[in-house]
Amino acid sequence: MSDTRHTERLTATPEGIRRAAELLKAGKLVAFGTETVYGLGAIASSDTAVARIFAAKGRPRFNPLISHLPDAESAFAQASLSGRMEEIAHALAKRFWPGPLTMVLPRSPNSTVSDLAAAGLSTLALRVPRGKTALALLREVGAPVAAPSANVSGTVSPSDAFHVLRSLDGRIDAVLDSGPCSIGVESTVLDLTREVPVLLRPGGVTLEDLTELCGPIRHPDDFSEIAPASPGRLASHYAPNLPVRLDAASIAPDEAQLAFGTPLPGAGLTWNLSESGNLEEAAARLFAGLRFLDAEGTRRGLKAIAAQPIPRHGLGLAIRDRLRRAAEPRTHNATLT
Ligand code: TXA
Ligand code: MG
Repeated sequence: MSDTRHTERLTATPEGIRRAAELLKAGKLVAFGTETVYGLGAIASSDTAVARIFAAKGRPRFNPLISHLPDAESAFAQASLSGRMEEIAHALAKRFWPGPLTMVLPRSPNSTVSDLAAAGLSTLALRVPRGKTALALLREVGAPVAAPSANVSGTVSPSDAFHVLRSLDGRIDAVLDSGPCSIGVESTVLDLTREVPVLLRPGGVTLEDLTELCGPIRHPDDFSEIAPASPGRLASHYAPNLPVRLDAASIAPDEAQLAFGTPLPGAGLTWNLSESGNLEEAAARLFAGLRFLDAEGTRRGLKAIAAQPIPRHGLGLAIRDRLRRAAEPRTHNATLT
């Protein structure tokens, strides 16, 4: 469905939140801010509403979506938990919810999430976001809200309402503006349905913090290996128009620079993720930086974005993952989120 519609701009006031909830309950599409990125929400129980998400994003295949809930109790009501997994899930919820962690759990036979939102899988991705507005909205809706990142498929994820409107104005029913996202990269996706927990996507909760709580976690060095289990992991994601070069040790005259720490000499155009080398600040500035360098670099006739190395610990893992994906050669028939 690519019909044009009026996109309401809603502010994060009680009236704005009420209106957003009313639209969601009526099966409409509402983008809303979370602490990670803006999500494109639809009521998860309705196949029709969820189908609109895929249409608006131009998502080429029906990938499973994360269902968002306002608290651990309502989230776990959608899952079938038992044994050690149940213990781990509750411990994780206690420590990281509300927050940037998504748990993949067995889907309960009583789950109200539609088959389309779950892509027909027997598992379900569940998340309780931390954003105050997001939580108020979810409480007001009172049912799971499916929400992938609110961007056209394969493009950079939105970390403020302006980014959302740039790609989805006229394709969705409303955007609830709660300002810029504090974390700026998506949630960590952890699969708890296997013998040992598996990190499917590095994100806002670090691997170090997860390991401290659950013990050993399986995680490939190259996250593209696990693409089949988590379709959004496929290459050519977060793709700017300009090619991206990773781990740059020098900058060519026709390159824009994505710096981290002390910038390399010679770039006419630089976006510094964090001058002090702080990974939290870098994550929060990542998607805005890619957008800026892409637009301004293209305008100036530059040929590529060169990114300085990012450390492999803490939020650096998530940043490296998104940059690697942005650097992948573009494939048009890949499965994108
Ligand atoms: O921070 C976030 O997680 C944002 C905000 C809006 O909450 N959402 C987000 O959604 O990034 P999306 O659709 O762009 O990414 C969801 C990821 C995808 O990689 C998808 O394949 C994976 O979660 N996923 C969803 N359900 C799954 C399942 N049952 N098993 C394995 N992976 C799953
Ligand atoms: Mg996405």
